[in-house]
Amino acid sequence: MRLRLGVLTSGGDCPGLNAAIRAVVRRARKAYDFEVIGIEDGGRGFVERRTVPLSIESIDAEGFEHMLNTGGTFLGTINRSLGDVEDEIQAGYREIGLDALIAIGGDGSMGILHESARRGGWRMVGIPKTIDNDVPLTDRALGFDSAVRTVAKAIDYLRTSGVSHDRVMVLETMGREAGHLALHGGLSAGADAILIPEIPYSIEGLIAAIDETSRVRKHLFAVVVISEGAPAPNGGPVMVSDSRGIPRYQGVGERLVAALDEASGGRIEARATVLGHLQRGGPPTALDALTATMFGTHAVDLVARERFNRMVALRGNVVEDVPLDEVVARGSRLVDPGDQLVQVAQDMGVYLGEVK
Ligand code: F6P
Repeated sequence: MRLRLGVLTSGGDCPGLNAAIRAVVRRARKAYDFEVIGIEDGGRGFVERRTVPLSIESIDAEGFEHMLNTGGTFLGTINRSLGDVEDEIQAGYREIGLDALIAIGGDGSMGILHESARRGGWRMVGIPKTIDNDVPLTDRALGFDSAVRTVAKAIDYLRTSGVSHDRVMVLETMGREAGHLALHGGLSAGADAILIPEIPYSIEGLIAAIDETSRVRKHLFAVVVISEGAPAPNGGPVMVSDSRGIPRYQGVGERLVAALDEASGGRIEARATVLGHLQRGGPPTALDALTATMFGTHAVDLVARERFNRMVALRGNVVEDVPLDEVVARGSRLVDPGDQLVQVAQDMGVYLGEVK
């Protein structure tokens, strides 16, 4: 009997998901002749029994390989709780009749699906993806490199306007409680200050850093990157809630602009840009497309070797796999202030706050 392999994407979308699904389908069909079933919209596809058969032909009917270089996920995804539907998810999984599942998700979805797999005895393999890069036990998650590119590009665009107007340009990036995206994007594009949730900062320290870079440049100008989960000056995290009361990070950039104005007595004119979902869009970088291809093929090989309850992971340039139990037990991976990159940023004169 042919093995019936399910694949789904869960959590916030990012560039590289389609490339990973493509790799799963190609490897599964070519090497093992598995039947591949796409589950639509993550766990909701189980509840609503929404599936789509996948073949090499069906994902590349025209021969243009859109799947390799188009952002988003053609299977759809969700990053909100479905409520108390675990029994429905289990019933859907049984009815769809999968022998194994490859779940492409971030640390949150991985935890939820891992629990469903434990309860239902599913045979599951995970592929880590998230622009936040906070999945533990892997050097990089799918989508991160593409988001770093977008942050770096935004800094390039902001710089010219800032210099022209003698303004401080504040860029608010995504990342939730983790500052990886702000740190990598900011450092790669020459930001003057990078504020992340893991390192405390002060408005006085920031103003001193802005004055220092401005002195060298003869312009009162700087680029400041602030991660959405960093606290407001002398405050806590800044969030907004929708009508259902679901909170999300947003607005710390504007708070920083106001604080710079007040603390400098109007001397520093600043503007905030919230980069938002641009960070989750666009085609994957070559590195993300490559990583997706390596992750997808390795995940299918794990299924073929019956090595379940594992997550594919990157160590340097090599794809390995790690126990899913341990990934889930560790929770989100934050920036370690002792990281080499933090040190390099400081060596480059970037203001990061009070690094201990
Ligand atoms: O986890 C990925 C992420 O893009 C975060 O960086 C961000 O806070 C969040 O998702 C935004 O989610 P939503 O799609 O609900 O706006």
